[in-house]
Amino acid sequence: MPRVTGTYRTATVGGEKVRAYLPRPLPPANPPLELSESLSGLLSEGTAALGRLTIAGQMVPSADWFLYGFVRKEAVITSQIEGTQATLQDVLSFEATRQTDRPDDVEEVCNYVDALSYARRELTRPKGLPLSTRLLCEAHKRLMKGNRGADKHPGEIRRSQNWIGGTRPGNARFVPPLPEQVPEALSDLERWLHAPDPLPRLIRAGLAHVQFETIHPFLDGNGRIGRLLIALLLQHWDLLPAPLLYLSLAFKRHQPEYYQRLSAVRTDGDWEGWTAFFLECVREAADDGVTTAQRLFARMNQDRQTLLSHPRATIPAIRLFDLLPEHPIVTMTTVMTLLQTTKPTATKAIDSLRQAHLLHETTGRLRDRVYAYRGYLHILTKDTE
Ligand SMILES: Nc1ncnc2c1ncn2[C@@H]1O[C@H](COP(=O)(O)OP(=O)(O)O)[C@@H](O)[C@H]1O
Ligand SMILES: [Mg+2]
Repeated sequence: MPRVTGTYRTATVGGEKVRAYLPRPLPPANPPLELSESLSGLLSEGTAALGRLTIAGQMVPSADWFLYGFVRKEAVITSQIEGTQATLQDVLSFEATRQTDRPDDVEEVCNYVDALSYARRELTRPKGLPLSTRLLCEAHKRLMKGNRGADKHPGEIRRSQNWIGGTRPGNARFVPPLPEQVPEALSDLERWLHAPDPLPRLIRAGLAHVQFETIHPFLDGNGRIGRLLIALLLQHWDLLPAPLLYLSLAFKRHQPEYYQRLSAVRTDGDWEGWTAFFLECVREAADDGVTTAQRLFARMNQDRQTLLSHPRATIPAIRLFDLLPEHPIVTMTTVMTLLQTTKPTATKAIDSLRQAHLLHETTGRLRDRVYAYRGYLHILTKDTE
């Protein structure tokens, strides 16, 4: 007999009978999650990979060196799972140029970055919000800001029925809990996050994600906030000191299995299958992050040598080069601000880097030009186009 992970309740929505599913509170019970030898192995591998990612993040001069790119990479991919078309290149270009007509897709990705930074700040601020439903609502408010989220009740727990797959609740693949069941389900989840539990924390982060997706508390944005929850838990539980893991890459690569594993917890009580999948995704994404970090680091070292041996290597040019990891796309204005300098000096610095073939002009225009550190972006944007 598979374990039962929740209960169905029949309700009438829009004149149709639907079966809404309410998950039981965590942790998995009857029987408890079985930490088999193979799951323990996957847990060690996932944990070790996070350790390698932590070290990779520390091998560079500035702690924020990889952070800028990696956070945006996660933001783009988690939004792509939702259907957003923006690429990482689009987002970085926008951040450099701040054109006024921001496409909605780019806005969504920038909103995710805002939501993540906001929530991380709250968790570290002495009087900030703790990990809670309220914090997730505040994050949701930021995620749903602007054009696309306006009618999705930003920051609010839903008060109507939603569904997953299908055109209406009646033919949906999955109908989450009734609206009146949602607040209690969320407070159960919140309580469990702060209660002692013998299960390893990395596994708990994965269980929390499923529970959140199953409750589906918002009208939209549940996937992104549920994945953001994982990032916050990794921080809160000291599994990764900085948000360097772009876990959504693995979820996107294995999207059919990702959805199927979420469903199987409900339909087959298969917490173990989900956990194995989750731990493998953590390992895969962390290893990808380590490889990317190493390649970026090697690229920078090599290019720095190229620059230093170039006849046009002036001090402003070297200073600009060293800032590129956090600003891989720049304009004249951003360079003037970054170097705190005049237009002629900024122009010279850009020209030097162009002559050393490190920066490339991307617009073909004579005005409002945009320069990209192509060698670096080529490595960073892998799997995001
Ligand atoms: N069968 C399922 N059971 C539970 N959750 C699911 C299932 N299929 C997909 N999901 C989750 O629902 C998310 C989509 O919900 P949605 O509110 O549209 O979020 P977003 O707008 O951020 O994509 C998916 O990313 C996934 O996390
Ligand atoms: Mg959506």
